[in-house]
Amino acid sequence: MYFSKKLENQIKLGGLLVAAAVGCLFLTGYFGFNNRVADKGYRPEQPVPFSHKLHAGELEISCMYCHTGVEQSSHSPVPSTSTCMNCHSVVKSDSPKIKLVKESYENNTPIEWKRIHYLPGYAHFNHSRHIRAMIDCASCHGQVETMGVVHQENRLSMGWCLDCHRNPEQYIVPARPISGIFTGVDPMNAVNKETGKYKLAVSKPITSPQFGQYETEIPKTIVEGIPTPKHAGFGPENCSACHH
Ligand code: HEC
Ligand code: HEC
Ligand code: HEC
Ligand code: HEC
Ligand code: HEC
Repeated sequence: MYFSKKLENQIKLGGLLVAAAVGCLFLTGYFGFNNRVADKGYRPEQPVPFSHKLHAGELEISCMYCHTGVEQSSHSPVPSTSTCMNCHSVVKSDSPKIKLVKESYENNTPIEWKRIHYLPGYAHFNHSRHIRAMIDCASCHGQVETMGVVHQENRLSMGWCLDCHRNPEQYIVPARPISGIFTGVDPMNAVNKETGKYKLAVSKPITSPQFGQYETEIPKTIVEGIPTPKHAGFGPENCSACHH
């Protein structure tokens, strides 16, 4: 015993603190670095404080009202300012938070939203096929309608794509009304029986949206029971499907 009991305890405590500090440093360092690589949780500050929680969650504006054309093209564009101005030329038009939106509209300069999801150029992803298989946005993006600020929910790694392609039933969230996937057309009848080809199944755009509602012509039974995608087969695993 070289130290008094008290001093010994202090040394032990000090050692514990140092160990804890090193642990914390390691963890933040590790996950901080990992986060950059995987970009999971990536959540940049946006020029306008736009909230999905408010617009999609509370006002129930369907995803495809703003992200139009996802079922037809590889990309799901972020809406142009004119979509916002459908409402904000009237709603909260004097709010400082809308100022930039108005300026963008008046000067015809797009708002520079920071891109969140990003695949490297050598890997190809196409929204349309997934949407046509009635795979809900939430399967890949999480519940965006609960996010005040969008973050990336999943690591967009090759393993992630393949996991779902091999076991789709474990990962697929079937189309929900909030996403607006095919609210206008019965996707089960989207195939032209004569030619065997896809009729371009256009999701009905929601014209003049009512706050808190969206219009749909689809029979109720189909909306309520939007089924687990019966047509969704397995996704491809051959390299050239995603690398070409
Ligand atoms: C009122 C219009 C509007 C609605 C409705 C809407 N979004 Fe968005 N979305 C935006 C805007 C504007 C951005 C870009 C700013 C941001 O990231 O918050 C965006 C960004 C995103 C992003 C990130 C894009 C990137 O940069 O990688 C995803 C994913 C997304 N939205 C999914 C959804 C989903 C899923 C829904 C339905 C639950 C939805 N959005 C509903 C307007 C909308
Ligand atoms: C099968 C998975 C999957 C589904 C389902 C899906 N997305 Fe995506 N989304 C992705 C991936 C992967 C990217 C990144 C694409 C890239 O960088 O090329 C992405 C990118 C985006 C972006 C950024 C802009 C772009 O196109 O790169 C938006 C906005 C978006 N998705 C919205 C949606 C909405 C809205 C839905 C539902 C209607 C949806 N996504 C359904 C996987 C998915
Ligand atoms: C369907 C109508 C509608 C569309 C389209 C719409 N918004 Fe909104 N937005 C609203 C409503 C309603 C509110 C809530 C107003 C309130 O708090 O009383 C709101 C609130 C906001 C706010 C907060 C304003 C404040 O002062 O608190 C911002 C910022 C905003 N929206 C941005 C956008 C952007 C950017 C777009 C386009 C990508 C957009 N909105 C599209 C209806 C809409
Ligand atoms: C949540 C499940 C899920 C995830 C995640 C997913 N896919 Fe798929 N993917 C599917 C299903 C199911 C199909 C088959 C759709 C059908 O049968 O029409 C498919 C089909 C495809 C196809 C063939 C159709 C086409 O567009 O040419 C490609 C390519 C593809 N996926 C690429 C990707 C890539 C790249 C990723 C990751 C960035 C990814 N997928 C993530 C479920 C998923
Ligand atoms: C379902 C789509 C899909 C298929 C099928 C696929 N890949 Fe990939 N691959 C991806 C995506 C997405 C990435 C980007 C991953 C990232 O950045 O983390 C990737 C990345 C890669 C990379 C870069 C290193 C890495 O792992 O990040 C290599 C090499 C690669 N793939 C080879 C292959 C080979 C060989 C095959 C066939 C056996 C194949 N891929 C099949 C989607 C796919």
